[in-house]
Amino acid sequence: MASATPPTLAGVRVRAPAKINLALKVGAPRADGYHPLATVYQAVSLYDEVEASWAEADEFQVTVSGEGADEVPRDDSNLAIRAARLLAHSYGGRNSLGAHLLIKKSIPVAGGLAGGSANGAAALLACAVLWDLDVSQERLNTLAGELGSDVPFALLGGTAVGSGRGEQVAPALARGTYHWVLAFGYSGLSTATVYRHFDQLNPGAGQPKIPADLMNALRSGDPRLLAAALSNDLQPAALDLQPRLRTVLQTGLEYGALGALISGSGPTCAFLAESELAAVNLSVSLSAEGLCRAVRCATGPVTGARVIN
Ligand code: C5P
Repeated sequence: MASATPPTLAGVRVRAPAKINLALKVGAPRADGYHPLATVYQAVSLYDEVEASWAEADEFQVTVSGEGADEVPRDDSNLAIRAARLLAHSYGGRNSLGAHLLIKKSIPVAGGLAGGSANGAAALLACAVLWDLDVSQERLNTLAGELGSDVPFALLGGTAVGSGRGEQVAPALARGTYHWVLAFGYSGLSTATVYRHFDQLNPGAGQPKIPADLMNALRSGDPRLLAAALSNDLQPAALDLQPRLRTVLQTGLEYGALGALISGSGPTCAFLAESELAAVNLSVSLSAEGLCRAVRCATGPVTGARVIN
């Protein structure tokens, strides 16, 4: 049981990374409506931060600043608030804990980069430290899985294989650092809508399997092999919903990207570059085309949610 008085007045700051799905294989929907996945996640160096500070018992509030802040809900549907409440109710006894959460966003909202999941993971960790809870990594992972399919990976980071609905994660053997360019869309895509359109396009989707060529490419550390093995079953659905993304992907390849794909359910386009310099050059060229709202360079893999103060 946690103490009801603040052990420290200082907030606890945690940052958590965005993710790209290097492969995203999707099956037909399960009885609960979720889709079985075989995916390979990579965490990349684009981070949201959550600072948790002490509040009255059962008081949960969120303040949001940065990238897309206006689109982030402030009510109990906010994933950081849900994470704090879930942890409080699991460990704090009856309504004895509360938190103020300050989210600083760099990851675009509804971008296919698991920004909301990063906020959920960061809030779980920040509140566990703030409240001085005796919670195992395993328990934190289980709570993360209850919050959302991508939340356990945001805790873990690195490069990992995801199964189940994405919430079961295991580190993958991977060599090297990869240089990515991320092109953010002008408007977001709803994950649920993209999955629904996937179902229309793939009425007989089979059991998803991790592609062997991708795992071999990761073991080699060769970005060219990785580029050739990138795949995303949701890409045709995302491209149907936002056809101009085809032009973005094509333009990145024309400017020398080794590979290009939609990240998760989109609309962010991820380009794999040969080197850091190639990534910078590609990002400048893509920005100049004005096809996307913003372009960022990022490296992967990076660690999952970590305390930073
Ligand atoms: O798990 P999460 O809340 O992040 O999922 C958001 C939505 O994406 C779900 O409500 C569902 O519509 C869809 N989804 C799915 N299959 C998955 C993961 C997500 O259908 N494996």
